[in-house]
Amino acid sequence: MASLSNLKESPGKCVENSVFHVKGARSLSWGMKDRLSRIFNPRTGKTVMLAFDHGFIMGPTSGLERIDLSIVPLIPYADCLMCTRGILRTTIPANSTKPICLRADTGTSILTDLNDNVPIDIEEAIRLNASALAVMVAIGDEAHEARTVANLSRIVDWANRYDIPVLGVTSIGKQVARDARYFGLASRICAENGANIVKTFYCEGFEKVVAACPVPVVIAGGKKLPEKEALEICYNAINDGAAGVDMGRNVFQSSSPVAMIQAVHAVVHQGLTPKEGFEMFRELAGGK
Ligand code: 5RP
Repeated sequence: MASLSNLKESPGKCVENSVFHVKGARSLSWGMKDRLSRIFNPRTGKTVMLAFDHGFIMGPTSGLERIDLSIVPLIPYADCLMCTRGILRTTIPANSTKPICLRADTGTSILTDLNDNVPIDIEEAIRLNASALAVMVAIGDEAHEARTVANLSRIVDWANRYDIPVLGVTSIGKQVARDARYFGLASRICAENGANIVKTFYCEGFEKVVAACPVPVVIAGGKKLPEKEALEICYNAINDGAAGVDMGRNVFQSSSPVAMIQAVHAVVHQGLTPKEGFEMFRELAGGK
């Protein structure tokens, strides 16, 4: 209960208790901030998102054939789950209480023409209580750039009505170099078009990508690497200003996914070095 002296203190003002912990979100509304705070830990400002949406373009990718067996046991260690509505409804327990970053575009597969996507209905996101919406943006891909930027813009318009943050996923065009100039350009385009979070790849000069992006940048893991290398990428990305990871294959294709996600979590949130993280991985994996 407030003491009498508290009541006398600046009675016409309300004490501002906190600086908001997510980059670029200070002036957003309460609903946006609440959802972003479910994704980005308010204590560390970081997140470990677990991505397992690969099936919508790749079918049953290695490690994702049985999501009930491979992904569900990892849920307690993730800060946020990124998946499609099909997997969410069929396989993810609704009482897991983890925030969901819902794949909000859908389209063509690896067998035809990647990135020919269209948005899903915003009402689906509301029904599924999404904390964020993920949209692919194919900068530098002549055939799909315009459509995917329009998808982002459309989804941002819808999501803003309901205070749902949007994650822009930068897809790599075949003709472009995987460098800081390209990832910086793609990330900035996502943010300029209204994305509240950007997902891109780690690269040399990554600090420039982060510095020029007005919203948090999280990194994708990409193809499976040896665990130590994947932890090094996480560590370097965090050191260069990333707000976390949105990782899939380097977790669920690991020899011990439960150990790997915990090691990634410790690198991201506790600042463990790659060596310490790898030791933790080996210990939890029982020496594997
Ligand atoms: C595809 C995605 C994937 O979820 C993303 O690439 C993360 O997975 P990985 O760490 O396996 O690369 O966004 O659109």
